[in-house]
Amino acid sequence: MAIEIISTVRQMHRYADAVRAAGKRIALVPTMGFLHRGHVSLMDLAREHADVLIVSVFVNPMQFGPGEDYASYPRDWNRDAQMISDASAECIFAPEPGEMYPEGFQTTVSVDGLSRNLCGQARPTHFSGVATVVAKLFACTKPHCAVFGQKDFQQLAVIRRMVADLNVDVDIIAAPIVREPDGIAMSSRNTYLSAEERTAACGISRALGEVRKLFDAGERTADTLVCVARDIVSADRQARIEYIKICDAETLQDCPEITRPVVMAVAVHYGKARLIDNIILAP
Ligand code: PAF
Repeated sequence: MAIEIISTVRQMHRYADAVRAAGKRIALVPTMGFLHRGHVSLMDLAREHADVLIVSVFVNPMQFGPGEDYASYPRDWNRDAQMISDASAECIFAPEPGEMYPEGFQTTVSVDGLSRNLCGQARPTHFSGVATVVAKLFACTKPHCAVFGQKDFQQLAVIRRMVADLNVDVDIIAAPIVREPDGIAMSSRNTYLSAEERTAACGISRALGEVRKLFDAGERTADTLVCVARDIVSADRQARIEYIKICDAETLQDCPEITRPVVMAVAVHYGKARLIDNIILAP
């Protein structure tokens, strides 16, 4: 059957209502397009949890700060539509910005505590942009469950909190990070990397791998592990580290001694690419 492509909220409501009335389960995979194998893994996982798979493609202006890459964010509608159709999704929701944020729009969702550390320090409005659009995408597509990648660890934490706090009846499913053969976590922004920057960026996954080894050998002091990761990443002069931190995996507060599950989260700039990655360390 041909895939349904929907661009208005009204049509999206009617479609979701019909699916629910037929007693079927809806899974949503929210994306900003320019899809890669990581997104395919989200769609595959979503398929296992529902009868009807909706994939949204919307580059959300609200989650980009001033001077960030909203205008230049990579877009390729034909390729995205093909990939979504190949993943045997039933429906694509692809609204224009004016449909999501019509004149007069003024309601935002912010998840204060979890949004402050890590990416929130350099991108103070980012997570309220994400939480707002995800709340809207849930309202539009009426899913029973939604799948998010663990690469965006803080985003996942923010969305889980938002869903719990606002009593949103959507199961949040986390999907593991998918890596390129050279170790780089899959991201639409990898396309910004030159060949040399790409080689340099492999330092991130090497650093995380080394930290994992030390942790497995019993190292529990965050500073020691952060220093090791910093040394490996900054060995390449092209790397501009935004942060490398170890935080409590639930609260995202800095965590000096590892006695409970933590995340080592990393954000590094190479040229105009800002890459994030993470590993979970659970004693
Ligand atoms: O992870 C993303 O691609 C985006 O932040 C999301 C969840 C689709 C919201 O715009």
